[in-house]
Amino acid sequence: MAGFQHIERQLNELKQAGRYRPLTVWEGGSDSWMTLDNGRRVLQMSSNNYLGLTQHPSLKTAAAEAIGTYGVGAGSVRTITGTLDIHDTLERRLAEFKGTEATLVFQSGFTTNQGVLSSILGPDDVVISDELNHASIIDGIRLTKTNKRIYGHKDLDQLEAVLKECGGFRQRLVVTDGVFSMDGDIAPLPQIVELAERYDALVYVDDAHASGVLGKHGKGSTDHFGLHGRVHIQVGTLSKAIGAVGGYVASSQVLKDYLTHTARAFLFSTALPPSVAATCLAAIEVLRNEPELTERLWNNANSFRASLQAAGFDTGGSETPIIPIIVGEPARALDFSRRLLEEGICAQGIVYPTVAMDKGRVRLIITAQHTEEDLAFALGALTKVGKEFGLI
Ligand SMILES: Cc1ncc(COP(=O)(O)O)c(C=O)c1O
Repeated sequence: MAGFQHIERQLNELKQAGRYRPLTVWEGGSDSWMTLDNGRRVLQMSSNNYLGLTQHPSLKTAAAEAIGTYGVGAGSVRTITGTLDIHDTLERRLAEFKGTEATLVFQSGFTTNQGVLSSILGPDDVVISDELNHASIIDGIRLTKTNKRIYGHKDLDQLEAVLKECGGFRQRLVVTDGVFSMDGDIAPLPQIVELAERYDALVYVDDAHASGVLGKHGKGSTDHFGLHGRVHIQVGTLSKAIGAVGGYVASSQVLKDYLTHTARAFLFSTALPPSVAATCLAAIEVLRNEPELTERLWNNANSFRASLQAAGFDTGGSETPIIPIIVGEPARALDFSRRLLEEGICAQGIVYPTVAMDKGRVRLIITAQHTEEDLAFALGALTKVGKEFGLI
């Protein structure tokens, strides 16, 4: 009988290479201190819950009330009976917040990238993509028959050289993460926009890790750099700082109309639960009314990064709350992560193929919820284990 022998073989290879990673099960919800299923409390330094909104009282109330009003599910894809008034309100409010003509909401940031890129790129176009862009961008491009050029990470000379030789295509689309998810560095968006304008290209920025984090009230990297009206397509997530789940594209009404007819991830998958839409609406209000959350996030991140660097850690190119600690070989990076867990710190190990073979790391994500005591505790544990591993 046919079986999964080849799959088991591949799993064994992962185990032998020290890259096998069982899922960790947590008791209770996402918070700054979390309980493992063995009852141990650990400090969470790996979640994307940048502002602690997963536990914000006004978001919880909004979700619960929406369940009372709408029930638990949308009941259909958006194009049949799944566009409820609360989805429409969310899209209008997000457009106001982002300062764009329109937005369209998808079920996740991943499916937003996948849906948008696969819709707008064809064989006559060329997409020009940073080598460290997120997997969902790569997959969205793979679903097309478009022409593809990759430029070195944030390498503007290479980007310009590629733009120069791509004049013959119908459309040139430059795609970049706003904040790079594994390194925590920020795309040089002003220079990218200037180059795109010079060579008649469109600009697409994936702000998954900039949404709620960068710019005034967390409006994203376009706002951070004062580039309103010069970035053609902004993708945001509702899954990270916003505290719920979902993604959206913020752009023109024309693009929204086109995507509602062509984006397969939008057309063929059920709409977000109304309680999620309500949660996201409440989150936008929190971003507007509680700027102290983003302030605390950045104060925490900047001071913790400085402390790590002072202790001698290699934090790569981090300039945001995402702070990698570069360890090296995959197995060593995963061992480092395991030792930190023993010391009460959850710091996710990230290894090849997500990052280069010799750039295995733990990726810390600092949040607004972390207290001074939390960060002092984390620094103590990292210093102790860092010395054991000869990193400092
Ligand atoms: C840069 C980037 N884009 C997109 C996504 C996907 O977002 P979501 O988690 O909402 O699917 C992520 C999340 O991992 C990301 O880091």
